[in-house]
Amino acid sequence: MRRKLVVGNWKMNGGRVANAELLAGLVEAGPFDADVAVCAPFPYLGEVALSLQGQRLGWGAQDCSKHESGAFTGEVSASMLAEFGCRYVIVGHSERRALHAESDQLVADKAKAALAHKLTPIVCVGETLAEREAGQTDAVVKRQLSAVIHTLAHCISQVVVAYEPVWAIGTGRTASPEQAQAVHALLRAQLHAATQKSDEMSLLYGGSVKADNAASLFAQADIDGGLIGGASLKAADFAAICKAAA
Ligand code: PGA
Repeated sequence: MRRKLVVGNWKMNGGRVANAELLAGLVEAGPFDADVAVCAPFPYLGEVALSLQGQRLGWGAQDCSKHESGAFTGEVSASMLAEFGCRYVIVGHSERRALHAESDQLVADKAKAALAHKLTPIVCVGETLAEREAGQTDAVVKRQLSAVIHTLAHCISQVVVAYEPVWAIGTGRTASPEQAQAVHALLRAQLHAATQKSDEMSLLYGGSVKADNAASLFAQADIDGGLIGGASLKAADFAAICKAAA
């Protein structure tokens, strides 16, 4: 059976004091039946790792370079993250695709770099509102996932895929459980064509997941948990979402 996974994406939020409080609150609210992790900004990862030592909470980064090392000012490599015991790395978040012009191929290359260092890439896919309204949702998410499948080949079963409709991110407008399930079923079918292990893969939903809508989303057959932005910044809210995934 697939385990549920809930991942907090702090984005560019936090501070040393606030992070410590948030993590202490999560530790106190746990342990959770689902797997839980937080993805913090790079400068805080060392402290997050220390705070979570011996706890059943994982941690990860929000991006990594496709390169191994070298003259890439500002970039952080997967090997650097792995050195600190990092477990997950988000790649292809829509904010990076939109604001940093990341292509499908670059996202796939980042996922490959992560896997090479035994990190689990959380690959984000999702359509914009204009694409949904133009009836292009299926084509867009399939194209985004297809680049990753082609680049990783048989290793594709080691990634986590997060479906995050762009119009639902940070807007308070979440996809209905049925809308989300329809895309998740499509993605799993696409994965099934690529790997025998698609049934074991975790597919997360992200986009305005809150304590009061999490359970109905996570109850869907192909939704195995969530990637949580805003609601992951408050211990009580995030803990409630983690409990809804049990
Ligand atoms: P949100 O963000 O929960 O604030 O909508 C989700 C995400 O961007 O991963």
